[in-house]
Amino acid sequence: MMRKSLWLMPLVLGACAAQAGGPTRSAASADAGKLLLAPVPPEATAHPALWPKPHWPQPRDAATEARLAALIARMTVEEKVGQIVQADIGSVTPEEAKAYHLGSILNGGNSGPGHDDLAPREKWLALADAFYAASVDTSNGGVGIPIIWGTDAVHGHSNIVGATIFPHNVGLGAARDPDLIERIARATALEIRTTGMEWTFAPTVTVPQDYRWGRAYEGYSSDPALVSEYVGRMVQGLQGPATGKDLLKGPYVIASTKHYLADGGTVDGRDQGDARISEEQLRDIHGAPYVPALEQGVATIMVSFSGWNGVKNTGNKSLLTDLLKDHMGFDGFLVSDWNAHGQVAGCTNASCPQTINAGLDMVMAPDSWKAMWTSLVAQAKDGTVPMARIDDAVARILRVKMRLGLFEAGKPSSRPYAGQWDLLGAPAHRAIAREAVRKSLVLLKDQGGVLPIKPGSHILVAGDAADDIARQSGGWTLTWQGTDVTNANFPGATSIWKGLDEAVRAAGGSAELAPGGAYRKKPDAAIVVFGETPYAEFQGDLKTLQLRPELRAPFATMQRLKAAGIPVIAVMISGRPLFMNPELNVADAFVAAWLPGSEGGGVADVLVAGKDGKPRFDFTGKLPTAWPATARADGPVLFPFGYGLGLNDRAPWTTLSEEPGVETSDSGNVWFARGIPAASWSLRVLDGAGDTTRITSVPAAALGGRVKVTATDHVVQEGARQFAIAGGPATVEVSSHAPVDLSRESNGDLLLVATMRVDQPPEQPATLAVNRTPIPFAAFSAATAGQWRSYGVPLKCFAAKGADMTRVETPFRLTTDGAARFSLAEVRLASVADVIIPCP
Ligand code: BGC
Ligand code: BGC
Repeated sequence: MMRKSLWLMPLVLGACAAQAGGPTRSAASADAGKLLLAPVPPEATAHPALWPKPHWPQPRDAATEARLAALIARMTVEEKVGQIVQADIGSVTPEEAKAYHLGSILNGGNSGPGHDDLAPREKWLALADAFYAASVDTSNGGVGIPIIWGTDAVHGHSNIVGATIFPHNVGLGAARDPDLIERIARATALEIRTTGMEWTFAPTVTVPQDYRWGRAYEGYSSDPALVSEYVGRMVQGLQGPATGKDLLKGPYVIASTKHYLADGGTVDGRDQGDARISEEQLRDIHGAPYVPALEQGVATIMVSFSGWNGVKNTGNKSLLTDLLKDHMGFDGFLVSDWNAHGQVAGCTNASCPQTINAGLDMVMAPDSWKAMWTSLVAQAKDGTVPMARIDDAVARILRVKMRLGLFEAGKPSSRPYAGQWDLLGAPAHRAIAREAVRKSLVLLKDQGGVLPIKPGSHILVAGDAADDIARQSGGWTLTWQGTDVTNANFPGATSIWKGLDEAVRAAGGSAELAPGGAYRKKPDAAIVVFGETPYAEFQGDLKTLQLRPELRAPFATMQRLKAAGIPVIAVMISGRPLFMNPELNVADAFVAAWLPGSEGGGVADVLVAGKDGKPRFDFTGKLPTAWPATARADGPVLFPFGYGLGLNDRAPWTTLSEEPGVETSDSGNVWFARGIPAASWSLRVLDGAGDTTRITSVPAAALGGRVKVTATDHVVQEGARQFAIAGGPATVEVSSHAPVDLSRESNGDLLLVATMRVDQPPEQPATLAVNRTPIPFAAFSAATAGQWRSYGVPLKCFAAKGADMTRVETPFRLTTDGAARFSLAEVRLASVADVIIPCP
């Protein structure tokens, strides 16, 4: 052993570990030099001496150490491992949590009480009580350690209906206001406490370097200094003072800075990818925010899915133990990301001693917890994971639980703020969110004096994003991807349209909403709200910095309005800067509004003047990252970091080139839409015996006339293809010669979704395959004829059956042996579907 790790020399713990350990344990720790670890080459090995040494504000105290050592001494291996394994509420019951002594649960973005994402707040609190009661029940002779619940409250308590939804971090980066950040954190902590959780997986302290990354909006800025300025305040607002104790007595929760390290530094901005950068870049760009986080005593840190120079962080002992714990002094606990351990070299979702040996303390094994628990118990018993390491992980978790005051706090509903529903979405919190919206708006162009909107004007509000709260909130809102929710799911929230309508009327004018721009009365000005639709992991990754083609219609609306002599104010909703030169050219004023959240009224506060004609608020937002002049991620800059106009700034406008500088073929994981394959994809009918017909136009016939393909309507005229199969066997597939890598997506909960209508139920059972790996498609035979339905199969079902998800050339392959008639409109990846086909 060259380097001594903290966990190999536990002070108080040493004694009890030896006592409770038995012979295999001491043998294992003596043997620690031969630990089972993922290989880490020199280029992925950190040199701690080059890194800063922050001051960790929570020194160990003798009383706590003695208490937790005594507790650990009484714990069985099964109980210890239970503390280390975290399960998702979608895959575990309180009874199971009790049986396996689980120390922690989470609700992933798509999980809710009773498998209902949109469950009412009371149900969340009741479920917290149920898990708590199960965890402290000692009737089976256990130690009964209270469980902690982690949630992605990443922009407010954003999984809960009725909560205040704050702007996503990218907008907060534009606001340049650290005090505001702390107030947001305090409000968020209070809202979390109403539903009984103790822990948020926030703040995200990523420093994105490539905004093609779909998660870039979860970061405040691409500038490490700006991110670092915010982090300490956010952690303080959530956890209270750095030296704080008994957090649950106050309005606090524990925080988790994520995702350690360089999640925003991956090649091409690929989600869960690899950061191929020097150690200096790792430290100075991505490591910087961890210094203020540690100085605020952040209780937990979430390890990134991503890797550094080819090694997944979740298995990199040099980053987790040598650097973060031993050198930088982090004395909270490390939690991994959703099944990220399965991506460590040599590991599966069911077993990964390498990650615990590397220094991970709690493994997020959402749906894989039982297998993980079972394997880790065995590995702890046979010394594959030294008992000293297990004890250290448990001690770190218990230390945080003691800091929370969890052992004395009683059941979640009995704690301060729990069930105080007036705090969830409280007017005072919404006021902070609205202030944040105002401060996050960045004015990029302002010509012709159209802003602010004058009193008494008639205003047209157009654009497909004008009256859509889900859209203005983005991903990680009520559902994982932020999709599949409507305005009705946001009680108490204000859409941008509603805010504008109120403000314009308050100033003696009138407003009308016409998303397509067809006004009833000619307006004095038009506000066109447009931009991205919600996305989270995977789904938001782009190949080029452009709005997806299907979202570009509002540009034509702007052009039409402009041609009719109406001044146009463009308000863009997006998680990132995109190539916008055509829109910037046509609009008189252009506002980047990011993902403002539930308080859309903040947009009107700045856009619409008061009754006296004076602005009520000026634009103060500054770009949190540079704005591109082309769609190339490495292309020239149009507006630099820090750019942003005020109402009194007069910047002359020179028409911009409208060349994006890239080719446009980004399928965005939509392989077949409106009845047509995406570029470089094809639709084929085949029989498995060599007869193949590529369908390029309709009507068409295949397999010697056994299959007839025609156009049919779905959403739009001829938006689907109908297949009339006179007799089997017949296969319909969507495929490409350039396979896509869906391995990361398979590890998450993404679905392969086909939007289909069964017109005549199949005579014989059907199967659905990815590549050549089929699974039964019983729902197809059981479908009600004539109804459009989206059918989703979890990608992991195909992965589990052995499909090579790194090279998917056929994401859709439907085979049936007899006569059938069905229509196909779309094939894509998504996180929701009408009918979910279970893994066989
Ligand atoms: C995300 C994390 C999140 C976790 C739990 C992961 O896939 O990367 O940011 O906290 O899931 O939902
Ligand atoms: C969960 C997310 C998680 C993701 C992992 C989803 O089902 O809801 O929280 O981050 O899977 O990829």
